[in-house]
Amino acid sequence: MTSWIDFWDRPNAVYVNQRNLDAHFECLTRDLEHFVPVGGRKVVLDFGCGEALGAERLAKGCSTLYLYDAAPAVRRRLRKRFAHNGRIIVLDDQELRQLDTGSIDLVLVVSVIQYLRKNELVSLLQSWHRLLRQSGELIVADVIEPGTPIILDAASQLRFAWSNGFLMPALAGMARMFFSDYRELRRKAGFAMYPAGEILELLREAGFDGAGLPRNPGPGRHRRAYRGRKLADAPA
Ligand SMILES: C[S@@+](CC[C@H](N)C(=O)[O-])C[C@H]1O[C@@H](n2cnc3c(N)ncnc32)[C@H](O)[C@@H]1O
Repeated sequence: MTSWIDFWDRPNAVYVNQRNLDAHFECLTRDLEHFVPVGGRKVVLDFGCGEALGAERLAKGCSTLYLYDAAPAVRRRLRKRFAHNGRIIVLDDQELRQLDTGSIDLVLVVSVIQYLRKNELVSLLQSWHRLLRQSGELIVADVIEPGTPIILDAASQLRFAWSNGFLMPALAGMARMFFSDYRELRRKAGFAMYPAGEILELLREAGFDGAGLPRNPGPGRHRRAYRGRKLADAPA
């Protein structure tokens, strides 16, 4: 396996069981509702949405919730899961490219940028900027600071597993990951980490006024989140 998209396109041990997935999305969705309150009419793009188990709940605050994930197998599952919900639209690569300029109120990018090369991130920041209305907002979350010891991530996962009743499967999952090709892929494909100053600089270069958020949405409390608002004099 050579790319992160291939990794996410296949079964993997990141979420150790259904309970883990449910607890993850329960926590994440509760936090994201702050940006998408129930009863709202926002047009939202969840970029790199993964299994998106909270999408129906989030869609209650949207007129349209677009889900995009680069992994085709993920998109197939999403299409099946949300076929009955008229507010949720699953996009493929081409449909994403065809979204109208200035048509989105909020772009969510949670736990994705670690899998992107810097030039991909730069180009994506520009396309999110294009998609957002002038009053729109970009949220980039679950950003890992360089130098974050792997033990901090592991401890956070185990604490979350403990409080949600899947500690033993989580320990077994960690052991499986340790002996899998995950570490090799991380070395080959890269695993991007950014200090706050660099993210804020990249946001500014893409035409956003960026700021750190007080709390990262989702279970990884030690990770960072940022919001970007379009600068008034930003490049079109
Ligand atoms: C850790 S999961 C995050 C899922 C969800 N956003 C969450 O926070 O639970 C990372 C997701 O990013 C997707 N992804 C990886 N590279 C991507 C890219 N270049 N474009 C879009 N999605 C990507 C993967 O397919 C995977 O579903």
